Amino acid sequence: MTPIRGSWRTRFGFYLVAIGSACGLGNLWRFPYVVGENGGGAFVLLYALMALILGAPLLIGELILGKTTRQSVMMATRELEKRSSLPFRWAGRFALLMSLVVLSYYSVIAGWVLHFIVQFMLGLFSTKEEVTGGLSVLMGNGGLQWALASVHILITLIVVAKGVQEGLERWISAVMPLFAVLVCLLIIRTMSLPSAPDVLRFLFYPDFSKLTFASLNHAIGHVLFTLSVGFGTMVTFGSYMREQDHAPTAGFRVAMVDTVVSLAIGLLVFPVAFQASNVPLTDPGLMFEVLPKFLLQIPGGLFFGLIFFVSLYLAALNASVGLFETIVANVKTSRGRNRDRSTAAWQSGALILGLSLFPALSSTAFRRLEWNNHGLIESIDSLLINWLLPVAALGLMFAIYRGMGEKALRSAFLDQDRLVSQSMYPHWIFLIKWVIPGLIALGLFLQVLGLLKLAP
Ligand code: ALA
Repeated sequence: MTPIRGSWRTRFGFYLVAIGSACGLGNLWRFPYVVGENGGGAFVLLYALMALILGAPLLIGELILGKTTRQSVMMATRELEKRSSLPFRWAGRFALLMSLVVLSYYSVIAGWVLHFIVQFMLGLFSTKEEVTGGLSVLMGNGGLQWALASVHILITLIVVAKGVQEGLERWISAVMPLFAVLVCLLIIRTMSLPSAPDVLRFLFYPDFSKLTFASLNHAIGHVLFTLSVGFGTMVTFGSYMREQDHAPTAGFRVAMVDTVVSLAIGLLVFPVAFQASNVPLTDPGLMFEVLPKFLLQIPGGLFFGLIFFVSLYLAALNASVGLFETIVANVKTSRGRNRDRSTAAWQSGALILGLSLFPALSSTAFRRLEWNNHGLIESIDSLLINWLLPVAALGLMFAIYRGMGEKALRSAFLDQDRLVSQSMYPHWIFLIKWVIPGLIALGLFLQVLGLLKLAP
C-alpha cells in the first residue's frame, strides 16, 4: 500500500463530493428522456432495481479497490495484475478511455447549460423580460456548442488543477444543499400542474408491455452512467477515503441518494413535458426544451431560472470534476512518472477539447452522420452507455474480484463496529460473482436480439 494521497477532511465532505460526482446531467438531462424512450413506470422499476442489485455493489467494489490500494484506476489495476498475473491493466485502461470519451460529450451538454445561464441573464437584464435563444439556437451553431464546451473544460481544468481538497470540498458543501432546496420547491410547483396525476401513473404504474428487449441494458447502462461506475471515478474517490470510513456504507448511500434524486427529477420534468405536448418524451433535449419555458411562466421565473441553471451547471461541473480528476490522477502517474498536477491537467484538458469537437458539431457539420435515425451525439451516447460501459464495469469488477481475492475483499468489506456488514457481505459477494455478470450478459444479449430485429 502506498499512501501517497490526501484524504477528505471529514466524512461528510467525502459524501458530498461522491454524491456530487454521481449526481449531474445523468439525473437531470439523461434520466427523463431514457425513461421516455422506455415507456415509463416499468422502466423506472427496472432502473431502481438495477441501482440496488447492480449499481450499488459495483460502486462498493470500486471504492474498496481505491481505498485498499490508495491508487487511481490504472495503477490500482496494475497492482492487481502483479498480484494475480492476469492482464488486469486492460480493465483500468478501458475504464480510463470511457472517462475520456464520456467527458468529451458531457462537456458539450454542460455547454448547453451555460447557454441557458447566459440566456436567463440576458433576459433578466433586458426590458422585455424574456428568453429568446432556446435549444434551436445551439442546434444550428456547432461552433457555439464547441466554444461553450471549451469554457466548461477550462473551468473543470482550473478546479482540478487546484487540487482535490481545496478545489472541491469547500464549494460543494455550499452548493449541494442549495440545489436540493431549489429542486424541492420547483417540484411542489410542478406537482400542482393538472398533468401531475398522469405523470404519477406514467412514472410509478408499471406497464411491462412498454419494455423492449433493449430496456434491460438501457437500465443497466444508465445506472452505471449516473453512479459514475465503470469509469474508474469511484476508484479515485475510494483512494482519498479516510481509513476509518466504511466503503460499503458509503457506496450504498451514494447509490441510494442518486436514485432518489433521479426519481425527483422525473417529478420535476414530466409534469411540464406532459403539458408541453409538442416535445416528444424521447427527445434527448427534453429537459432543455420544456423546463426553461415552464420557469418563465412562474412569477420571478427569470430569477429562478437563472438559479436553477447555475445550480444545474454546478452539478454538471461536479460530475465533470470527478471524471476529469480520474483522468488527471492517471496521467500524472502514468509510465511511472510523477508529473505535476497542473501539467497533467492541461494535457488532459487539451485531449478532451479535441475529442469534444465531434459531438459539438453533431447537429451541424456532422449532421449527416446518423445511425438508426440518431444523430452523432445520441449515437456516441448509446454506444458508450448501452454497450461499452457495462463491459467496462464488468471488466473492472472482475479485476477487483480475481485480483484482490475473496479473503482481501472480505476484510475490506467487514467492519467490526457494524454488525450489519457481516450479514451483507455474503449477499454482496453473491451479487458480484454471479448475479451482476449474468445480468450484464443477458442485457447485452437481449440488446443484440433487438438490434437484429428478432425482438421488439
Ligand atoms: N454520474 C454523472 C452524472 O450522472 C456522470 O451526470
